[in-house]
Amino acid sequence: MPAASPTLVVASNRLPVVLSPDGKGDWSLERGSGGLVTALEPVLRDRGGTWVGWPGIETGRIKDMDRVLESAMEGVGYRVRGVGLTAHEQDDFYLGFANQVIWPLFHDFQAQCNFDPRFWKTYVRVNQKFARAILGETSDNDFVWVHDYHLMRVATALAARGAACRAAFFLHIPFPPLDVFVNLPWRFHVLDALLSYDLVGFQTARDRRNFLHCVRVLVPGVEMEGEGRVERLRRGDRVVRVGVFPVSIDFQEFAGMAATDPVSERVAGLRSEFPGQTIILGVDRLDYSKGIPHKLQGFKLALERYPDLLSRVVLVQLVVPSREDIPEYYQMRAEIERLVGHIQGEFTRAGWVPIHYQYGRWDRVELAAHYRAAGIALVTPLKDGMNLVAKEFCASSLEARGVLILSEYAGATAQLQKDALLVNPYDVEGVAYAIHRAFTMPRDEQRRRMQSLRETIRRTDIKWWVDTFLKAAFDEDLGESAGVEIYRPPPPEHLEFN
Ligand code: ADP
Ligand code: F6P
Repeated sequence: MPAASPTLVVASNRLPVVLSPDGKGDWSLERGSGGLVTALEPVLRDRGGTWVGWPGIETGRIKDMDRVLESAMEGVGYRVRGVGLTAHEQDDFYLGFANQVIWPLFHDFQAQCNFDPRFWKTYVRVNQKFARAILGETSDNDFVWVHDYHLMRVATALAARGAACRAAFFLHIPFPPLDVFVNLPWRFHVLDALLSYDLVGFQTARDRRNFLHCVRVLVPGVEMEGEGRVERLRRGDRVVRVGVFPVSIDFQEFAGMAATDPVSERVAGLRSEFPGQTIILGVDRLDYSKGIPHKLQGFKLALERYPDLLSRVVLVQLVVPSREDIPEYYQMRAEIERLVGHIQGEFTRAGWVPIHYQYGRWDRVELAAHYRAAGIALVTPLKDGMNLVAKEFCASSLEARGVLILSEYAGATAQLQKDALLVNPYDVEGVAYAIHRAFTMPRDEQRRRMQSLRETIRRTDIKWWVDTFLKAAFDEDLGESAGVEIYRPPPPEHLEFN
């Protein structure tokens, strides 16, 4: 940012806290889950500014929302401004357009889309509502940074109200290829909305390439200049910059947390709970994009194929509740629990239960202790914008002994491909093979890979991410790109060709 820094006004659908009635006439606060909150919270804490977003409750249920939020967030180092959503808006904007249109389509699950025409109208109105809230917090010199697929139309709404502030957008989820994107009835509207920002950022080079391809084919009159990290698109008298900025975590915070006494004690507790067993860890929000059933099938096949794993590994799988009002989500929970029961029934023996499954939330100590105690992290989304769990596991792996098994389809793969064991999550044989390979990997190789993973994540941490994005937003030179190559899968080791 330039010398006299403008105030940062961040907008996202979610705030870092979710309010809910505590049953005694007051409000209880829970931390919002998801990668966006993990990434943005340290940015706001570090730089200050204002965060505009929805605190997870219905308009009208709380009269003095901003006062409740302010007192709850006192001392965090930034301001919070709540945007309430009516029940209808929650249905048609959040559960509807955001999570039954854009979420499935952008994660390549076209069959799960519900293109109900009502959803788009409400999406436009809610984006206008966010724009009004942003304008209430912003002067012309400020910098508005809008996050994620819920708020793609905010710049359009700001411009319609004559706002002169600079506005940038970052997409935390993937951007789909043309053949998938083109199914969206509002395909032109969405591209036009994104082209109304001054800067649009994506997680990977693949996402940016997909976006540019869609613009080239679907939007007339756009000229493209430049190559490398940031591309300039000229449309009439406007220039839009389009760049790649892989989101990250506060590495030092995760590493520091893992080293605290409460975490060390809990790590010792976990080791004695699972004596002589390697913990294989899965931490996923309940979501079809996370590929949890495929992962369970891969684990089951590993137990069938590699008897040396029996009694020697335990899969600790946390599933964090999410979007439970959407049928695909609660159906998926039932499917996961059926599969877990099936595997337990088949493999449990005296003194050994192969899966330790939890549906719920862990606090920070519990999460850090599991990351540090795990010997293997099994991160196998079918598609994921980045996947911060993968980075958190590495940052917390203080003894540099864990092995990261990572899906080829996570955004994190572009940066971590050299040192993780990569799998195609649809290939359950490949997942089983990788589990066995991780389990039998010599200590030296584990250490070498994990040290290198940690170094990459430390170097390109959340401070690097925000600095790089803001430099691009203010047209500064970005220097060299850091590990954002498109991943090209090699021929598989575990499959024969004849
Ligand atoms: P997504 O954004 O799709 O959920 P990510 O892997 O990028 O996927 O991010 C998940 C985030 O949620 C991680 O930062 C993780 O630490 C966080 N998380 C996991 N479990 C909890 C929990 N119980 N409470 C709050 N946050 C959690
Ligand atoms: O990282 C993707 C993301 O959609 C975030 O935008 C969001 O915070 C998270 O997943 C959790 O989803 P939700 O906000 O719907 O609970």
